[in-house]
Amino acid sequence: MCGIVGFTGSADALPVLLSGLKRLEYRGYDSAGIAVFDGDDIRVVKTRGRISELENKINELSGFSSQCGIGHTRWATHGEPTDENSHPHLSGDGRIAVVHNGIIENYAELRARLIKRGYTFRSETDTEVIAHLLDYYYSGDILAALSKVTTKLRGSYALGVLCADRPGEIIAARLDSPLIVGLGEGENFIASDIPAFLAHTRDYYTVDDGEIICLSKDSVTVYNSDLEPVEKERMTVNWSVEAAEKGGYEHFMLKEINEQPKAVRDTVSPRLENGRIALDTDIPEELLKSLSRIHIIACGSAYHTGTVAKYVIESLAKIPVEVDLASEFRYREPIVSERDLCIVISQSGETADTLAAMREAKRRGVRTLAIINVVGSTIAREADFVLYTWAGPEIAVATTKAYSTQLVMLYMLAARLAVARGHISPDEEKTLAAEISLIPEKIDKVIGNTDTLSYLASRFHNHKDIFFLGRGVDYAAGLEGSLKLKEISYIRSEAYAAGELKHGTIALIQNDTLVVAIATQKALAEKMVSNIREVKARGACVLTIASEDTRDALAAVSDHLFTVPACFEKFSPSLTVPAMQIFAYYIAVARGCSIDKPRNLAKSVTVE
Ligand code: F6R
Repeated sequence: MCGIVGFTGSADALPVLLSGLKRLEYRGYDSAGIAVFDGDDIRVVKTRGRISELENKINELSGFSSQCGIGHTRWATHGEPTDENSHPHLSGDGRIAVVHNGIIENYAELRARLIKRGYTFRSETDTEVIAHLLDYYYSGDILAALSKVTTKLRGSYALGVLCADRPGEIIAARLDSPLIVGLGEGENFIASDIPAFLAHTRDYYTVDDGEIICLSKDSVTVYNSDLEPVEKERMTVNWSVEAAEKGGYEHFMLKEINEQPKAVRDTVSPRLENGRIALDTDIPEELLKSLSRIHIIACGSAYHTGTVAKYVIESLAKIPVEVDLASEFRYREPIVSERDLCIVISQSGETADTLAAMREAKRRGVRTLAIINVVGSTIAREADFVLYTWAGPEIAVATTKAYSTQLVMLYMLAARLAVARGHISPDEEKTLAAEISLIPEKIDKVIGNTDTLSYLASRFHNHKDIFFLGRGVDYAAGLEGSLKLKEISYIRSEAYAAGELKHGTIALIQNDTLVVAIATQKALAEKMVSNIREVKARGACVLTIASEDTRDALAAVSDHLFTVPACFEKFSPSLTVPAMQIFAYYIAVARGCSIDKPRNLAKSVTVE
């Protein structure tokens, strides 16, 4: 999704803005631009395409420097990626410049009204209405104009604004779209995400919905929507610039796959006390005991961790669990009760659908527990209870380490629920905690077996269709394996519950179709053998991912076999999914795909 960066200070703003934009590239974009003060004027440079093209255009401006400006990477929503549609957008007289993330839902109506008032539009974007509206309401006070404009907008926005009458200042505002303020020494920043200013400062403010901010190099003032100043809590990021860099790996995705043992350890270790699980949230024990149902809400891979959690929580804690895609939950009139708990899972903590679904659950009186990676993100701030995963910054669009940390967080929660409700004894809890704490070294073993996985990838990278089959948690793991493959390699792929295939989809199996069969559960191994025979009888080639405990049962029917260490069976997605991540990664490498920034995808999906 779009990225915003803004800088005001004493240094040359152009390199600061460009490097900030480069650090936001991971969010996905198709055009980029900047606006900077040039004496009493505002100068805009923008282009469709990559930041390197913007850089070339900027380099043509010789003998020019500025100490304050805003930059933007655009992920097209309204209008194609063209130079005209790129941000920043200017008011007609060029005295006001705007960058915007989000969607203005009533832009067509606003545009029509502005055209009637004589305004001329240069782009097809929703954002341009904001530049003209600011001009319309501006009578010498840009803060007052912005405050007025925000009352006219329906939808979501994070805004960065320059006004030629206030050189050296950036004005910003937000509603339902991420925006933070970086606090430096004699310099300040706005950004959609921390990496944009991490090379300059680790201190920041989060911005709440409805707030308006005015930044100069020496001051940051935050106002509420009535333009009354509000106090903000200064926050500090605990990760370094290096954590957000590739560190010698060819791709962020590979780096992050390899960081999984550490990320999982960092998430689990602080929550183990004398061998038992101690969750750092003030969720009342009484609530854990009296819950009647759990709703898990998330999108994409985070939703897939929820599908694993359903099996784990239901089997350990005996609580019914419903797992919903956030985009479905928010509109399906869910039946919930005050004795339910809604678990919201998100790496970014900013996903628009997940946030809206959580608000819907809260509106219906359900308490919410968020499992989030980005500290201080909107979902984390609005949820009743929060548990942070400590995966560190995840830059590759395709999630890997955040997925793995969400899984272990959910296992720990399941075990805590099971003890609180008397379904397992404290000793059994200790056994589960020990199993969970062994996961990092077992993931290490899986990813240490890269050669086998890259060899298998080299065998299969030309396949057009790949199926993932499994039962129970293996099916849930297959959903993630399949998503990883399609998003980075563009190979069509489906994940099926192995028993369901014969109810229709088996029609698609033909000579040489690749089927990845995941079979880590002893009690279901025989069933998987039958399912494998079914697809082999139709010509499929089968790669089985088994555990040390099931491999003997599966070896004879499989064309290829990859073995993961044995573990508590319900936790096996923690081992099978990293294997499938690596498989997908090497297939995508072999196909020459853009691994960290797959086509059409964005890291943080902040629009509906
Ligand atoms: C896939 C992927 C996405 C995200 C989804 C939710 O690799 O990364 O499917 O899992 O967009 O994002 P978060 O977790 O930030 O809410």
